[in-house]
Amino acid sequence: MKTKEKDIIKAGEVIKNGGIAAFPTETVYGIGADATNENAIKKIFEIKNRPFENPLIVHINSIEMLEKCVTSINEIEEKIINLFWPGPLTIIFKKNNIIPGIVTSNLNSVAVRMPDYEITLKLIKYSNCPVAAPSANKFGKLSPILYREVIEELGDEVDYVLKGDVQAQGIESTVIRVQNNELIEILRPGPVTKEILEEKLKLKVEGLKKHPVHKLSPGTYRKHYSPDTSLRIIYNKNDLDKYIGKNLILGYITYNKNVHNQSLFKEIVHVDLKKGLNFFAEKLYSLIRKLDKKKLDYILIDAVDEKKLGIAIMDRLRKAEGKGS
Ligand code: TXA
Ligand code: MG
Repeated sequence: MKTKEKDIIKAGEVIKNGGIAAFPTETVYGIGADATNENAIKKIFEIKNRPFENPLIVHINSIEMLEKCVTSINEIEEKIINLFWPGPLTIIFKKNNIIPGIVTSNLNSVAVRMPDYEITLKLIKYSNCPVAAPSANKFGKLSPILYREVIEELGDEVDYVLKGDVQAQGIESTVIRVQNNELIEILRPGPVTKEILEEKLKLKVEGLKKHPVHKLSPGTYRKHYSPDTSLRIIYNKNDLDKYIGKNLILGYITYNKNVHNQSLFKEIVHVDLKKGLNFFAEKLYSLIRKLDKKKLDYILIDAVDEKKLGIAIMDRLRKAEGKGS
């Protein structure tokens, strides 16, 4: 969907004047407000029904803007910025005073990223302020990636929805922090994987810890990114058998072209994994959203290998199932 310059300007005006505008990024749609305007930020939490304990990501379009939001940038952070920004990587910094506590759940840190999407960067320019933006969904639900999904989910509640679909990633940015200028930790897996970080930085990166990361990254919940229909991950044939022949209305997202008993499923979506996990991640939320409308008892989805981008995909699917860490 084509985005008009005059519409980006309009969305920028909305944010500049303390309103709320939804806009595409390279990961998912966000709903944004001036990150320095406490009242505007409050509206974001209200619209999303988001608990205040769940901090927002601040989006910037320049290093000068970053420097206003944070107190310091260490050497490793600088290296990461040079290698990965603009891009789907959020870094946790020490917060500066212009960012009110409501943005960061009163933490003294702030999450910042520079999106790799011309439209988003222009929007920040026209807003003339750092833009705090969570994904444009109700709290706990799937992040929207298409204009019409945002209209459906929040269209009436925000001041403006900027046209232009997400085209690159389809899942939320990777969130990392650097401890003591040495330890790089992943707090939320995403498109920039541990492998990619390590290869480019030539440094060791701690993957997502198995134990709950709530304390490190408030806003990570066991249940999140969820459709209304119950979702279940299928790891093997036994898992599938549990649902078959029980008079259940089933939808199935599968990588297997030759599913047995196809007639037992109301909806089957075949995904060709040969196209790569990136391609799958880009479509994933929209696929689930589509099945969510079919009045199913369960959405079943095959697990992917938990390697590289597969780690982020499985993280989201487990949360959608209500079994995240
Ligand atoms: O791709 C994305 O990151 C999208 C687009 C719109 O940029 N945004 C997004 O925002 O996914 P949201 O609000 O759905 O997720 C933000 C997450 C929080 O849930 C939390 O886990 C982490 O970022 N976070 C934010 N501030 C933090 C902080 N100060 N310390 C640790 N984690 C933080
Ligand atoms: Mg979100």
